[in-house]
Amino acid sequence: MHVKKINLIGFRNLKEQVVELADGLNLLVGNNGQGKTNFLEAVYLMATLRSFKSSSVRDVIRFGEDEAEVSGEIASREVPVKLRVRLKGSVRKLWVGQRSIHSAREFLGRLRVVAFTPDDLAMIKGGPSLRRKFLDRAAFLFDSQHLARVKNFNHALKSRNRLLKERKRADRDLIDSFSQAMAEDGARVSKTRLEVLRRLRGETERIVEEMIPEMSAVSVSFEPGWYIGADGSKDSLLEQIRSNLEQDLRRGQTCLGPQQDDFEISMGQNSARRFASQGQQRTVAVALLLAVVREVVADGGARPVILLDDVSSELDAARRKILFEQVVDLGGQVLITTTDEGMVADLRERKIWKFIVDDGRIEPEREK
Ligand SMILES: Nc1ncnc2c1ncn2[C@@H]1O[C@H](COP(=O)(O)OP(=O)(O)OP(=O)(O)O)[C@@H](O)[C@H]1O
Ligand SMILES: [Mg+2]
Repeated sequence: MHVKKINLIGFRNLKEQVVELADGLNLLVGNNGQGKTNFLEAVYLMATLRSFKSSSVRDVIRFGEDEAEVSGEIASREVPVKLRVRLKGSVRKLWVGQRSIHSAREFLGRLRVVAFTPDDLAMIKGGPSLRRKFLDRAAFLFDSQHLARVKNFNHALKSRNRLLKERKRADRDLIDSFSQAMAEDGARVSKTRLEVLRRLRGETERIVEEMIPEMSAVSVSFEPGWYIGADGSKDSLLEQIRSNLEQDLRRGQTCLGPQQDDFEISMGQNSARRFASQGQQRTVAVALLLAVVREVVADGGARPVILLDDVSSELDAARRKILFEQVVDLGGQVLITTTDEGMVADLRERKIWKFIVDDGRIEPEREK
């Protein structure tokens, strides 16, 4: 699967334009602040209907304007399809081909994208929310309803927390209705995260071994924010949230649930978070990314489009080379952004389509 053409109107700092991409390695080069990440975000938006930079998708509308539109021609093994997303204020309109689509459910899943940003590189060292974000994006590739469930869950959690802050004055019936709403989607969210990590585990451990042979055996384990047990049912989650109410009221927030889900990487007996070097941690993150792509392909799905936003500068030359080689060898379409072409020198022997990103304009470099 690949994006053949993308048409941008009013999207962040990007000029109104049509960009034709190659089914292979596309390299976007430009200085800071020119629009490289924004361009990847536009592709990401068509795949997920979300932004990977902001929590509100409305942020993509150009400053001072009230409308943005991204559309793209997607080529795949099946029939090619045209996807179009228009945002006007907080209203979103979707089309597949000429047909107007009224539910996200029907729209999602036609373009599969694996995105990797410097935030993901920091996920081992950083807070659990980065790891959850990574897992959720991976989960979305196997279950296109996952992100919608996460959103519903977070909404219920926020409302419940707002009430808990009122402590003694809090309306317990209302709190309970949000507990129910949390359990409704939350149980499934945690279970999906668990399943996805299970899928990625073996592959990740193998890839780390290839990339850092000197690192002792790496293992990946899920740490749910509640007792999932054998069935991980919503009833069980609800019961756990309810039985924690007094503590939650004292603390003014919901202490237990999927919002605390996390995963741990260990090297031998030690936690990678605490003992691995920076570079080793980044390598583990890269391995997780590669595992996602391999698993998606193994799942029989079309090759996802891979978006690598500026990750190269944070890896050493040897690791960078392995990352690029592996990504390219997976085949399919890859979009890589960088400020420094030197970073991708290893790719010189490969066929590359290069684009210059300058002040919101994306121009293919003329053949030399
Ligand atoms: N809604 C918006 N409307 C207009 N401009 C925006 C909007 N959101 C972000 N920008 C601007 O877009 C510009 C480019 O951002 P982007 O993150 O794509 O840069 P980049 O090329 O990836 O840079 P870097 O190399 O620093 O990562 C920034 O100057 C930013 O202020
Ligand atoms: Mg950027």
